[in-house]
Amino acid sequence: MLVAASSRSLFSAAGASRIALPGLPIARALGVRCGSLWANVKQGPPDAILGVTEAFKADSNPQKMNLGVGAYRDDNGKPYVLSSVRKAERSIQDLALDKEYIPITGVPEYNKLAAELAYGKESPVLKSGQLVTAQSLSGTGALRIGGEFIARWFEGVGGKKIYLPAPSWGNHTPIFKDAGLEVAQYTYFDKKTNGLDFEGMVKDLKAIPSGSVVLLHACAHNPTGVDPTPEQWKEISKVVKDKQHLPFFDMAYQGFASGSTVKDAFALRHFIDEGHKVLLAQSFAKNMGMYGERVGLFSIVTDSAEEAKRVDSQVKILIRPMYSSPPLSGARIVKKVLSDGTLRDEWLEEVKTMADRIITMRSQLRSHLENTCKSQHSWEHITSQIGMFCYTGLKPEQVDLMRKQASVYLTRDGRISIAGITSKNVEYLAKAIHDVTK
Ligand SMILES: Cc1ncc(COP(=O)(O)O)c(C=O)c1O
Repeated sequence: MLVAASSRSLFSAAGASRIALPGLPIARALGVRCGSLWANVKQGPPDAILGVTEAFKADSNPQKMNLGVGAYRDDNGKPYVLSSVRKAERSIQDLALDKEYIPITGVPEYNKLAAELAYGKESPVLKSGQLVTAQSLSGTGALRIGGEFIARWFEGVGGKKIYLPAPSWGNHTPIFKDAGLEVAQYTYFDKKTNGLDFEGMVKDLKAIPSGSVVLLHACAHNPTGVDPTPEQWKEISKVVKDKQHLPFFDMAYQGFASGSTVKDAFALRHFIDEGHKVLLAQSFAKNMGMYGERVGLFSIVTDSAEEAKRVDSQVKILIRPMYSSPPLSGARIVKKVLSDGTLRDEWLEEVKTMADRIITMRSQLRSHLENTCKSQHSWEHITSQIGMFCYTGLKPEQVDLMRKQASVYLTRDGRISIAGITSKNVEYLAKAIHDVTK
């Protein structure tokens, strides 16, 4: 026998086993395999957000609440399929269309409509042929394409590095690291005020090397719910321009912050007006409730139609070996909703209804904390923050206690998804928060 009679796997995670098996190289050379092929694979930690759902599911308390996941729920706490989406889906079914492959960068009419929604129908970048678009696997896929494109082609002096707000959506770091970028942070949230640290943000954007890639949440910042005001956006645009940074907008919540898709596109459109050449990741997961359909759009504003052609060719080269071409169904539905005047109007109403329910839940939660529970803390930030999430300011130990005492589940950073609150359980939640903060 060439291999020592050890019960340890050849590829044991503990590197020591390799030293203990002097015959190993010969065994390898002879193609002899001992133990499992994947014994070296280490157990990874569960996803921070999806892990919360797992724990929630296992809880038998009938009053349990899941405030971890960023998905909209109606006032009965149920997933909500938009009526405009259902109607679009039915009308598409009736046409009995084929299911052929679509182009590498997606359904062209869908791309055009999605880009118009973000940049505005009259946007000069759409008319000039400067815009490169690629239908993506929702917002995540768009961010990943952008990360890959930057890693491959960006030659700014800032290097292959992207600056994220601190904090940012938990998936941003792995998306960009896996794309081959270094990830760093700029100041964003002020823990003392539970608001924006605007001075700190501007100071950092000025201090980082000129020509850096900077990720900006276009609206409804996740996880903090804290957005710059339009005036602050104008200031940020100036700094980004002076420093020749490359802005990469993540717009996963267009319409969710204010209820208006136009208002929520202010930052992006202002940057375009100011001549920035932006990258953009869009998602229809939240504003159309298309979570599982994975419909999004990646786009880049280039300098000219000629440049757009070259960039487009490289975006295709990048996507082809990853997944060949994007899926068809979701894009067809979004295309139908956006292109049919009646469905589009209904959809815009539904976006407003979702945003309004969230705003109402914010004010009820604050009111119960202040008036029903008589909490002595300031809860003003619950209503001043915007969008699906609220950064409560709860500490990890308090989050743990809420889970233990009241079966209320949220991520340990104290973020709650307001969309998970209903008029029936908002008081229960307020009491649970009060119990761990008094
Ligand atoms: C800030 C932000 N960006 C992007 C996404 C991407 O979501 P999806 O890939 O489901 O469109 C999310 C989802 O939670 C998000 O919060």
